[in-house]
Amino acid sequence: MFDVQKIRKDFPILNRKVNGKPLVYFDNAATSQTPQQVIDVIVDYYTNYNANIHRGVHSLSQEATDAYEQARIKIQKHFNAKQPYEIIYTAGTTHGINLVATGFTSLLNKGDEIIVSALEHHSNIVPWQMLCERTGAILKVIPMNQDGELILPEFDALLNENTKLVFVNHISNALGTINPIEYIIEKAHSVGAAVLVDGAQSCPHLKPDVQALDVDFYVCSAHKICGPTGVGVLYGKEEWLQKLPPYQGGGEMIDQVTFEKTTYAGLPHKFEAGTPNICGGIAFGAALDYMNNIGFDTIAKYENELLDYGTEELLKIEGVKIYGTAKEKTSVISFNVGSIHPYDIGTILDKMGIAVRTGHHCAQPIMDFYKIPGTIRASFMFYNTKEEIDTFIVALKKAIMMLS
Ligand code: ALA
Repeated sequence: MFDVQKIRKDFPILNRKVNGKPLVYFDNAATSQTPQQVIDVIVDYYTNYNANIHRGVHSLSQEATDAYEQARIKIQKHFNAKQPYEIIYTAGTTHGINLVATGFTSLLNKGDEIIVSALEHHSNIVPWQMLCERTGAILKVIPMNQDGELILPEFDALLNENTKLVFVNHISNALGTINPIEYIIEKAHSVGAAVLVDGAQSCPHLKPDVQALDVDFYVCSAHKICGPTGVGVLYGKEEWLQKLPPYQGGGEMIDQVTFEKTTYAGLPHKFEAGTPNICGGIAFGAALDYMNNIGFDTIAKYENELLDYGTEELLKIEGVKIYGTAKEKTSVISFNVGSIHPYDIGTILDKMGIAVRTGHHCAQPIMDFYKIPGTIRASFMFYNTKEEIDTFIVALKKAIMMLS
């Protein structure tokens, strides 16, 4: 039985007050909160075995190395990668995307085509534009409809023998749309293109199986999934990771260094130059343990209830327009109220202890599509409650009264 009140006790931050009111944290798509179980792992690391990894024969270094590599295996198992070395630690989703985009510089030719979707976060647009500038490749965009769904026949029409890469998020951060990545991967593969899925928003809600999906690259961040900021992973199929050159040069990623020539380490170290976020990697593993103990099916079911309830209650308020009404969506509600600026509502909600994100959500093309400057975005996680949604609705009505 899922007991949200019991779950909430794991998150110390949920007890705090903001501006004198109990915190209602609805900015989970920006970053999730951290349970005590993960905080304890972080404290334990710095209290008991903080040391550099892969470098020392001393006990602390070996304990840290073991914990870091055990976490890699946990992450491998979670995403069902074939091998632990197909999991590359990164600083987060953006880092993972840039690693792949930079790596493809030497693998693309002028006139090659890259496809992204209209629903992307800037981090899954700009690195590919930069790659096109470096290589002469051409960027094409899968368009979306008014509900915030990708128009798949248009995607089919974009594919041809010049298509080399397809990049799409699993879930849109701005609208919550769940994209049909199975279809996109299959179609892209039929013309020989590789696919990168940005899983930043899906990893807290779904448990992807990278082998079943047959995806070439999958990237995500720990902080969206109850872990710390500054760490994430890139999953890459071994054959692709072997083909891509190293992203950064430095310690750890080498085999032999002389002034004449350097040879590189094998996977995964080839892509892991420098001292990594050791504690972050270990805590990422602990965060996955925490989420898996609850169970992703349980999480998704409960979050869908929150989404339905929040949507119903919001639509009862005059002037509310929700952006992102896809049939398949997760617990993100982006909306505006009449012509009131989202920042004004966000500021007043904060005075009442409620955290939402306002603005373009690093997805300006989506805002341009709807011809709006931004939205108010409430995004729920499994530790939120219907009572918090009620508090939010009352506060929103007050804000609207003040601003009308
Ligand atoms: N990409 C994060 C968001 O959507 C920061 O808020």
